[in-house]
Amino acid sequence: MPAPEEFVVTPYEVKGKIDYDRLRELFGTQGLTPELLARLHRLAGGELPPLLTRGIYYSHRDLGPLLDAYENGRPFFVYSGRGPSGPLHTSHLIQFDICAWFHRRLGVPMYIQITDDEKFWARSGLTREETARWGLENLYDILALGFDPKRTHVFFDSRSIAAMYPLAIRVARKITFSNVKAVFGFEGSTNIGLVFYTALQSVPAFWPSWAEGRAVPCLIPCGIDQDPHFRLTRDIAEGLGYPKPALLHSKMVMGLLGEGVMSTTGNRADDALFLNDPPKVVERKIRAAFTGGRATVEEQRRLGATPEVCSVWTLWRTRFAPAEAEFEEITRTCRSGELLCGDCKARLIERVHGFYAQHAEAREKVKDWAESTIVTVAPKPL
Ligand code: TRP
Repeated sequence: MPAPEEFVVTPYEVKGKIDYDRLRELFGTQGLTPELLARLHRLAGGELPPLLTRGIYYSHRDLGPLLDAYENGRPFFVYSGRGPSGPLHTSHLIQFDICAWFHRRLGVPMYIQITDDEKFWARSGLTREETARWGLENLYDILALGFDPKRTHVFFDSRSIAAMYPLAIRVARKITFSNVKAVFGFEGSTNIGLVFYTALQSVPAFWPSWAEGRAVPCLIPCGIDQDPHFRLTRDIAEGLGYPKPALLHSKMVMGLLGEGVMSTTGNRADDALFLNDPPKVVERKIRAAFTGGRATVEEQRRLGATPEVCSVWTLWRTRFAPAEAEFEEITRTCRSGELLCGDCKARLIERVHGFYAQHAEAREKVKDWAESTIVTVAPKPL
């Protein structure tokens, strides 16, 4: 018998030290190759975001055929979503930053799903009012990353359900209880909301094809933990007459406490920088963050530090040092011992303050039009 895996990755549970290559094998996804990246680079007019060049996105399903279609004049749309269980933190941006990049560089429409129903069903500690309120707060943060109101469409589950339902009815008939039990590990005690929910997560992937009456390709950037949902979506797509969505998977990045995946469940609020943390809290959290530094300054000068295990370096890598030259400089001087953790942290604190200030301003502006992006009407009755 093969040895049991030392990690678990499902949409409702992530634990252990994840071996990402092994996970790709287990899930049966494809590796993001240099050839595909070079192709994207060319299609985007000679630009690739750090999230792609630095290995945060590392796996996919059918990205090649999606780009073939794009090159043959059949543009796709991007779709991603958020389960609103609380404020967004910086690692949630990994998913929406890449969507914003596709949206901007390739001019493709964006579809966002806010699953206030899912989080109410999945998290016993949250009330309906809370998940709905976080849904709206999270939506403002996402839209503020740079989405164009005219090309952005939001499925806010509890408010868009009438528009989604005609399609959800057909999707749900294709998914069996055995499917969801096998894919999500549901048991007899799982509430039936969650059992139905995966049908709703498939709806946005098919929506434009349904609305336009032709096959519109879909790309879903997401954390690899969401892959099981979309395996189901892909399995049923053709039976419903829609194209299988392509997927682009990211790794899950470590939190400030330096252990495994950033997660703020329970009383781990210090593991993440929330977008609504005041400057003093940001500063305190970064000051306390786990690094790859040595026990003493003398040792660090002599032996250097280890960026790969450092939560501060991870923040530079994923968002806060977009320029390659700066990121290389930070990485090199960290490794050599020239850059000390205290100075590196002070520099990051300044950078994060700058982003928060700019983000707060952009966020106020989107409030004027956010409501207008919420889909409430079905394109047709059936
Ligand atoms: N289920 C996701 C969550 O818990 C939310 C979600 C809905 C999503 N649709 C998506 C995530 C599409 C990625 C892609 O956060």
